[in-house]
Amino acid sequence: MPFDNLLIDDNDNVRTITVNRPDKLNALNRQTLNELHQAIIQACTDESVRVIVLTGAGEKAFVAGADIGEIREQSAIEARAFSARGQNLMSLIQSLDKPVIAAINGFALGGGMELALACHLRIASDNARLGLPEIKLGIMPGFGGTQRLLRLVGTTRALEMSLTGEPITAQRALELGVVNQVVASDELKSTVTGLSTSLAAAAPEAVRGILQAVNQGAETDLNTGLALETARFALCCATEDMKEGTGAFLEKRKPEFKGR
Ligand code: COA
Repeated sequence: MPFDNLLIDDNDNVRTITVNRPDKLNALNRQTLNELHQAIIQACTDESVRVIVLTGAGEKAFVAGADIGEIREQSAIEARAFSARGQNLMSLIQSLDKPVIAAINGFALGGGMELALACHLRIASDNARLGLPEIKLGIMPGFGGTQRLLRLVGTTRALEMSLTGEPITAQRALELGVVNQVVASDELKSTVTGLSTSLAAAAPEAVRGILQAVNQGAETDLNTGLALETARFALCCATEDMKEGTGAFLEKRKPEFKGR
């Protein structure tokens, strides 16, 4: 289904979803948020899609936040619904059993940083700037940023970033563990393509198990997390892909995983 504010591209089991409002630095207005939700549902229910990449159109921005013009016009009731809708989208992304990679090609501010934080892996171009500048607008993050940043970097840095609203460089984001890798902007696409293609070729049950064990394990006690790991490990061992992966190792060849 075509979208007004998103571009969709499929390649080698990798679906790239590009937020496409470059004249507004890809800001998330209500329509774009709804379209992103639909696009994520489509990608997660399409069996040919093994990996999802999220990025922004143009050279300047990943996503520069929620649409400030729309926020200004909202009543408190509408704002509550907007925040819930944004949080639902971010939680949906984080809970997917397919890896979602944020290719952060510029400003990732406010809702843009929150979108990136909900992804499983984050690759940033060296010109990217990440931040939660809501405080400068007299508001606060509303799409899960206070919670996901806190869990990623701890109270000290989460409060510093949220209270000052000052964006950080890609390099600083790497030092804090907010992003996985920083690359030159002209290498972002090829780096993300390499990573996503290799993840798309991995055994899907193993990928699903790792995503669930790490994501749910982060929110539970150690013994519950370990029990989950054991259950998912056993499930992997019931797959043909396990036979293929271990056999390929012993036969000194490359495995060909079939998702069975
Ligand atoms: N919502 C709505 N419009 C936005 C936007 C947002 N979050 N971020 C940028 N835009 C729009 C600008 O209003 C401008 O539109 P115009 O050309 O119609 O005036 C266009 O995108 C380009 O932005 P501009 O501010 O001119 O670019 P810049 O290079 O001077 O500055 C930023 C870039 C990212 C520093 C600046 O746009 C900015 O601070 N954006 C808001 C970030 C923010 O507070 N996000 C959290 C929102 S809750």
